[in-house]
Amino acid sequence: MSNVKNTNPTVIVIFGATGDLAKRKLFPAFHNLYLDNRMSDKFQIIALGRAENNDVDFRSYVIENLKEFSRNGNTSNENLLEFASNITYLKHNIDSEASYEELNSKLNSLDQSYDVRADRLFYLSIGPSFISTISDNINKFGLAADAKKDRIIIEKPFGYDKTSAIELNEMLSKTFKEEQIYRIDHYLGKETVQNILAFRFGNAMFEPLWNRNFIDFIQITVAEEVGVEDRGGFYEGVGALKDMIQNHLLQILCMTAMEAPASLSADDIRNRKADVLKSIRRIKPDEVDHYTVRGQYHDGIIKEKLVPGYRHEKGVAHDSTTETYVAMKFYLDNWRWQGVPFYLRTGKRMHEKQSSIIIQFKSVPHSQFSYGSEGMTPNRLIINIQPTMDIKLQFMTKKPGLSLSLKPAEMIFDYNSCSTMSPEAYETLLSDALAGDPTLFMRYDQVEEAWDVIDVIQEVWKNRADADFPNYRAGSWGPKAADELLARQGHAWVSNTLNTVKEQI
Ligand code: BG6
Repeated sequence: MSNVKNTNPTVIVIFGATGDLAKRKLFPAFHNLYLDNRMSDKFQIIALGRAENNDVDFRSYVIENLKEFSRNGNTSNENLLEFASNITYLKHNIDSEASYEELNSKLNSLDQSYDVRADRLFYLSIGPSFISTISDNINKFGLAADAKKDRIIIEKPFGYDKTSAIELNEMLSKTFKEEQIYRIDHYLGKETVQNILAFRFGNAMFEPLWNRNFIDFIQITVAEEVGVEDRGGFYEGVGALKDMIQNHLLQILCMTAMEAPASLSADDIRNRKADVLKSIRRIKPDEVDHYTVRGQYHDGIIKEKLVPGYRHEKGVAHDSTTETYVAMKFYLDNWRWQGVPFYLRTGKRMHEKQSSIIIQFKSVPHSQFSYGSEGMTPNRLIINIQPTMDIKLQFMTKKPGLSLSLKPAEMIFDYNSCSTMSPEAYETLLSDALAGDPTLFMRYDQVEEAWDVIDVIQEVWKNRADADFPNYRAGSWGPKAADELLARQGHAWVSNTLNTVKEQI
């Protein structure tokens, strides 16, 4: 969200620089920021990894990955080399003080070469169990002692329940001030997710309708076509509730349901989002079945290819009870949303990749029109987040012809018609972190509230391994029970393919 470029010399320290995230997302993002002139003129990336390596080999490794994963990977070799010349590799043992001493002297010598204390950005692209050791050592060696210049970015999962999240926050607060801590949720960096804010509060015409008086229900879907791929070992015991609902989907819910912030300052926006999380009605243990559905995929066919069931993926137990799908219904206890159901669903190996928000408006109170065989479609606003990036408004119009009957139609704003080169989520987020803008990062209270919402569900599910898994086919839209969850209220998941309306005409 920040338009400001940090011009101070900057040193970025990546813990876990040889991992998958660094390879696919972090180096490509820094590379693109470099091409867009969003990096300081003087910057260094210190890549930390366990293996023995040297600058020359590590730089070639980064360049090869940039060619594959950066949206500007086809830039000239010269350019790639120029970017990579800013990377230094250090062999690092997270538990060894000697490694932090070496890092400390590297940081100090860079400061000397810049003739000024550089800004420092520590990126923890490592498993959660290492956070505490790293944070303690950063503290011990005074690596992030300047609260105005030094920041730390932490990847999810941020804890595994509310208690552990509070502990983690307390532990981090011994070394860092809250304004130095950037808890990342990459969905908040997506262009179309940020556009929700622009769309809602940059237009006068939707806001008066954005409440319980006009909206029937809201659906948020984040469906993935991929399975757990080679992350079975990580995913086991985590599952879709903690991997997706606790963070990405609840954040989209916040953007959709929040009140207008007093200003666009980080805290004003985050206050309004925290209000949403606080107002989510907490489910009681004996209500969990009523409000939630969990699923796990069987084998099935996706794009004409047979794919294995979850229990046959690498690293997954043959009797695993980890959920790969969740659907649930939320209510928000506040003035704006009282009584409006928010349906959230997410799953792996679903029919197609699709993230969207569907806002279904109430039907007209009375109508004398004939709707013919197509029936009446309630007005809907569909915000497609990915891979389609558009906003559609669906409404009824007169069917051409002599009789006065109606048919559904839609108006579409296509995001790609504005630009085909949108920044990747990590570019936006890293650029903000470099500029010291935490708006799109999670504050401690947001994380804790989000865990508070789902803790009871994970507790009930953990103690009851009686899920009838696997219960949905790969390539389908999830378990039948998810349809029943909505049908009880006379609602249905709205199909959201490109032809939503055309199919009905
Ligand atoms: C990650 C989850 O946070 O988000 C993954 O851990 C998931 O399981 C991914 O696949 C989805 O992100 P995107 O940007 O591809 O929708």
